[in-house]
Amino acid sequence: MSEHSEATMNTAASALVPEPNIGGAGMGAARSAREISDLQAFSTDPYAAMQRLYRDNGPISLLGTAPMRFWLTLGTEACEFILANSHLFSWERAFSALAPLTGSAALLVNDGDRHRHLRKLVAPAFTARRVADHHATVTRHVETAVAGWARGDIVDVYNALRPALRLATVESLFGVSAMARSDGLDDWLHDIHRAIDTDVLGGTLERGSGSPIWRRALLARSSVHRWVVAEIERRGTRAEPGADVLGVLLRGVDGTRLTDDEITDQLVSLLEAGAETTAAQLSWTLYCTLRDRAVWTGITAALADRPPAEELDHIVSETMRLYPATAVISRTVATEFTLAGQRFAPGDLLIFSPFHTHRLPSVWPDPERFEPRRWDPGSEWYRRPAPFEFLPFGGGPHRCIGAGFATMAVKAAFVAVARRIDGEVLTTDARPHGLIGMHPRDGISVRIDEKR
Ligand code: HEM
Repeated sequence: MSEHSEATMNTAASALVPEPNIGGAGMGAARSAREISDLQAFSTDPYAAMQRLYRDNGPISLLGTAPMRFWLTLGTEACEFILANSHLFSWERAFSALAPLTGSAALLVNDGDRHRHLRKLVAPAFTARRVADHHATVTRHVETAVAGWARGDIVDVYNALRPALRLATVESLFGVSAMARSDGLDDWLHDIHRAIDTDVLGGTLERGSGSPIWRRALLARSSVHRWVVAEIERRGTRAEPGADVLGVLLRGVDGTRLTDDEITDQLVSLLEAGAETTAAQLSWTLYCTLRDRAVWTGITAALADRPPAEELDHIVSETMRLYPATAVISRTVATEFTLAGQRFAPGDLLIFSPFHTHRLPSVWPDPERFEPRRWDPGSEWYRRPAPFEFLPFGGGPHRCIGAGFATMAVKAAFVAVARRIDGEVLTTDARPHGLIGMHPRDGISVRIDEKR
């Protein structure tokens, strides 16, 4: 590998590429050479590789060789099939390597009855009413961050707002009194997130369990675990559990509640799943909107009069279309099936992609264009997508349980920024990086030119 390609390979991907092993002769060797080079292309720039592989191979491509081998299943037919046939897949098998980081009771690493039981007891924390209770928390943390920006400053809005979103998530989960004790949490979450993002294609953590990223993440996970256990113990002494997520989980449903260990695993994985994705989504929303002066002027004018519910919905949906923070989703086959003429066997790993589907020209006219009017039923741009055409939060039994929270948080944070500043985006071509928690690789630089 050349020095140049090594330098440009993204960190998440670098752990995914096996040592090339292109021995042997004939068709088989040629095929595995191509599969390895496709995996390397995907690891270097997954977004461009998906487009090329779909163009060259159609919906199904095989990348890599055992033990680092997976199928890319692209296009609407694949998405529709995967979302409609959740019973053919196992999340437990897909994410078992992640369980030491998420905890064995985390929703994402469980299947069937156990998953249904856990999800039923976590869902009450994410009803529309509960989510609305956290709106003011998000606004307050973002306002505090923005208050430090002065006219003329050049601010990387992605990195500047990430801590605010993390603090807002921590406070929503554990309540305001936990904030004074949350030192260190930020760094631990960052270490865990990095390892999970590295492993998005499955199996690599086991192979790389001696790696520094993995070891750091395990240490971070045990620190987070201790922190969460201490919060639960503190809460145990109170008569009223509280309205934050921890309080709702402690209260339970119809006399049943999760055990303390299960609650710990939920909270750790909610922290892991929630904060980075939401911060990334916010930064893309600011990037797209600040760059499109007509949209920015329209939304800030509307904000002066009223809460612009519809316009904001359209902006956030359109950003999630172009830049879904979860760029790819993986599934492990539990029961064999055929898709697009290809037979899949138990244990096979599949990757499908909201990012790729959201840019298909057959579904979205002028797909690269940021056009919030696509979501306005009164516009000629409008077309209501099928659930498998627009899937920022996945779908099926494991659909993101925090979707309502994330959408509320992105909107609340956007409004808190747009009410207080105007600015010029200096980043001309923000490059996405990372597969879960896809964020702008070099941040989003904005010159602040007005403070309101
Ligand atoms: C913009 C931000 C977010 C995006 C793009 C996102 C996306 C996703 C996706 C694609 C899935 C997997 C769905 C599947 O496999 O079909 C997922 C699952 C999940 N998300 Fe999110 N998420 C976001 C924010 C959040 C937040 C804020 C929380 C909680 C505070 C959260 C908690 C979870 C959990 C616990 C799961 C696993 C659910 C299960 O297995 O039943 N996410 N998310």
